[in-house]
Amino acid sequence: MTATHPEKLLSPVLSATWDDEKPWTLATYRAHDGYKGLHEALRMDPDAVIALVKDAGLRGRGGAGFPTGMKWQFIPQGDGKPHYLVVNADESEPGTCKDIPLLFANPHSLIEGMIIASWAIRCSHAFIYLRGETVPVLRRLHAAVAEAYEAGYLGQNVLGSGFDLDITVHAGAGAYICGEETALLDSLEGRRGQPRLRPPFPAVAGLYACPTVVNNVESIASVPAILHKGKDWFRSMGSEKSPGFTLYSLSGHVTNPGQYEAPLGVTLRQLLEISGGVREGHRLKFWTPGGSSTPMFTDQHLDVPLDYEGVGAAGSMLGTKALQVFDETTCVVRAVTRWTEFYAHESCGKCTPCREGTYWLVQLLRRIEAGEGEPGDLEKLQDIADNINGKSFCALGDGAASPIFSSLQYFRDEYEQHLRERRCPFDPAASTVWA
Ligand code: NAI
Ligand code: SF4
Repeated sequence: MTATHPEKLLSPVLSATWDDEKPWTLATYRAHDGYKGLHEALRMDPDAVIALVKDAGLRGRGGAGFPTGMKWQFIPQGDGKPHYLVVNADESEPGTCKDIPLLFANPHSLIEGMIIASWAIRCSHAFIYLRGETVPVLRRLHAAVAEAYEAGYLGQNVLGSGFDLDITVHAGAGAYICGEETALLDSLEGRRGQPRLRPPFPAVAGLYACPTVVNNVESIASVPAILHKGKDWFRSMGSEKSPGFTLYSLSGHVTNPGQYEAPLGVTLRQLLEISGGVREGHRLKFWTPGGSSTPMFTDQHLDVPLDYEGVGAAGSMLGTKALQVFDETTCVVRAVTRWTEFYAHESCGKCTPCREGTYWLVQLLRRIEAGEGEPGDLEKLQDIADNINGKSFCALGDGAASPIFSSLQYFRDEYEQHLRERRCPFDPAASTVWA
């Protein structure tokens, strides 16, 4: 496992140990101050832990950026019900590759964060819902949880605190929709994973209808360092509304793809400088700031600060911080077709706009790309996407509409060229991403 550390920008935190020998072991983790945050947390009142995470300004790293401390605070206390913590490790947004590498390299950062979060919300049974195909990660997680039990961090009377905690690692069966938090909960309960109506949010009625915090892997793994080093240290990175460090996944037509840890607010231009740039002899054409569900950007957006406010102000969303980079050899129609095929395949079928709309988007895109498009197809694409966006039951529908809107906004001429010339003007073999 290697992580590229943009030292010009920040000393890494989450990826600090990734290049060590066996970074996944408890011994390595402890050698890097691992579990010191937990000792600190157990000396504090649970409400003080929540207040600290809230004051630090940590925001959810799964995509939506919801304040983590606030989410913990929503859990009602003294309600007599069990409380649950569920970690969403079902990472599968196209282009997103940061939680799985983090778990593979440093599972104890998640486990320590889970123990701290469970202490804070008064939870005695926490779950990790992992993308099931990642079998080596599953094995590594099981081994790390066993090490934590052995060392007294889990089980009865954690480190003599009187607090009990069990962690269950659950492997999902590989459905993108099970990354949606309520579908994940249904799946964890043994049902077919389909989104539930919200509200009630999981904080009120989640797993087994009990108050539940659902957090992303990276969000929870960021917590131990906040407990150990404090909120001011955390706030010394990033911006006021988007403080701290984060993992960006850089992929596609770049010289050195991988995970890059940097303060929130870094720009793609800076990340490209550190990563060796767009592949040699080529230039940037378009990119996604947060996976395929976020509106695409072009070379006009190289200096947009990659934090929640900066990306939002430029008309997109930070999402999962999956920076997929495409050079001038890539046909935008082809790229959007591939993404839309993914959404049509992963649509759970519960609501009509998404189930039917993604199917028809794929039919239209395929015929445009094949040079068989007809006049009026672009208006139809726009119309179908309009009927999905904001009218679907969960965020998957909006995500499917997003690349249609942004590609039509920035590359309408390229769609029109396909219609006019009745062929795709690009050589698919030249674009290694789609080879
Ligand atoms: P959301 O904004 O609806 O909710 C975010 C979180 O805040 C949820 O945990 C929700 O329960 C909580 N929340 C919001 N309002 C609340 C309230 N009033 N009371 C209590 N809790 C409240 O976003 P959603 O639909 O959960 O997630 C969408 C995001 O997921 C997208 O931005 C996308 O980037 C990301 N995503 C990530 C993927 C991945 O692989 N990591 C895959 C697909 C999407
Ligand atoms: Fe299922 Fe799509 Fe509707 Fe979400 S938007 S509930 S994935 S059909």
